[in-house]
Amino acid sequence: MRLKVDLAENSYEILIKQGCLKQAAQELNLKRKVLIVTDSGIPKKYIDLISKQCESPVIEIVPQGENSKSIDRFTNLCSTLIENNFTRTDAIIGLGGGVVGDLAGFVAACYMRGIDFYNIPTTLLSQIDSSVGGKTAINMKQTKNIVGAFYQPKKVLIDPDVLTTLSDRQKSSGIAEAIKMAATSNADFFNVLSEQDAWQNIEEVIVESLKIKIAVVEQDEKESDLRKVLNFGHTIGHAIEANSAGKLQHGECIALGMLYFSSDEVKKKLESVLRKYSLPTETDLDQERIYKSILHDKKAAGDQITVVYVPTIGNFELIDMPLAELKSVMNK
Ligand SMILES: NC(=O)c1ccc[n+]([C@@H]2O[C@H](COP(=O)([O-])OP(=O)(O)OC[C@H]3O[C@@H](n4cnc5c(N)ncnc54)[C@H](O)[C@@H]3O)[C@@H](O)[C@H]2O)c1
Repeated sequence: MRLKVDLAENSYEILIKQGCLKQAAQELNLKRKVLIVTDSGIPKKYIDLISKQCESPVIEIVPQGENSKSIDRFTNLCSTLIENNFTRTDAIIGLGGGVVGDLAGFVAACYMRGIDFYNIPTTLLSQIDSSVGGKTAINMKQTKNIVGAFYQPKKVLIDPDVLTTLSDRQKSSGIAEAIKMAATSNADFFNVLSEQDAWQNIEEVIVESLKIKIAVVEQDEKESDLRKVLNFGHTIGHAIEANSAGKLQHGECIALGMLYFSSDEVKKKLESVLRKYSLPTETDLDQERIYKSILHDKKAAGDQITVVYVPTIGNFELIDMPLAELKSVMNK
C-alpha cells in the first residue's frame, strides 16, 4: 500500500509493503553518495541489504539507545559528511528506530542547509509514528528533543518483515503509540486494538495509525495547534523517560503518561488495553522529580502547559493548564 503525505512542495510517499527493503533501489535515488545512519542493535542483514543497493554507500553505526540523540553524534555525522565530500545533491538514509530517524533526519536538515533524507524505520514505533511528519531532533541537558527541526523525508519505506527481529518489549512499546492515536482519534481502531491481537494484522495497524498521523500533519505541519494531539501521553511521558535512567522504553513512558489526562471511563479502557500488550500502568518514580522535569520541557510556555485530555475514546481536548493545577493532577 502507498500513502501520500500532502504538504505542497514537501509532499512525499510512504510505501508499506512486506519485503520492500529489497526494492530500495527502485524506490529511492541511490545513484549518488548515500550516508546510511543506523545503530548497533540493527541486524546486519538489513544494513547489508540496503548498502548493497547503493552505488556509493558510507555507513555510520551509532551506539543503540536514546543517548545517541546527542550533539556529539550529530557532530560526528556532520564530520563524516564533510570528510566524504557530500554535496547538496547527495542523500542520507536513516535505517533504524526513532532514535536513528530523529538523529539522521536532523543531520539531513542541517547539512548544507538540507540534503535529501530517506527514512527506513525498523521498529514498530518508528513505522507507525516517528518516521512520518518531519520532526527531527537531538536531546540536550536531559531535555528530550530540545534542539531540532521540522524536516520532511523525501520518501519512507516501511517493511513489516523487519519487525520479526524486534524484542517483545520493543513490539509492545510501539503498540503504545498506536493506542495513543486510536484513543484520541478513532474509536473503531481502538476497539480493534482492544479486542483483537494487533500482531495478527500488523500491516493494518501500521496503515490505520499512519492515516491518523498523516491527517493531523497535513493540517498542522509545524504543530501550531492540532498536531499537539499527537503529544497525548507525552507531557508526563517524556518527563518519566528522563527520570527512568534508561529503564523504561519510550512507548512504556507514553503508556503511563496517557493515564494522567483521561476521564475515569477512558482510564479504565486504557489500563485494560495497556495490560493486554504488557505495557505498564503504574510507576514508582518520584512525582516531584517528574514534575520538575516537566518544567524543563519545551512544551511549558510561561506558567501554563498545553495538555491533551481524552474525555471519551476517539475524542480529545487541548487544555491550557496552569502548572500548579498540573502538579495537583499528578499528586492525585
Ligand atoms: N520524530 C517523531 O515524530 C517521534 C515520535 C515518537 C517518538 N520519537 C522518538 O523515537 C525514539 C524511540 O524510538 P524507538 O522506540 O524506535 O527506539 P530506538 O530507535 O531506540 O530502537 C529501539 C531498539 O530496537 C533496536 N532495533 C531497531 N530495529 C530493530 C529490528 N528491526 N530488529 C531488532 N532490533 C531493532 C535498536 O537497535 C534499539 O536498540 C525516541 O527518541 C522518541 O523521542 C520521535
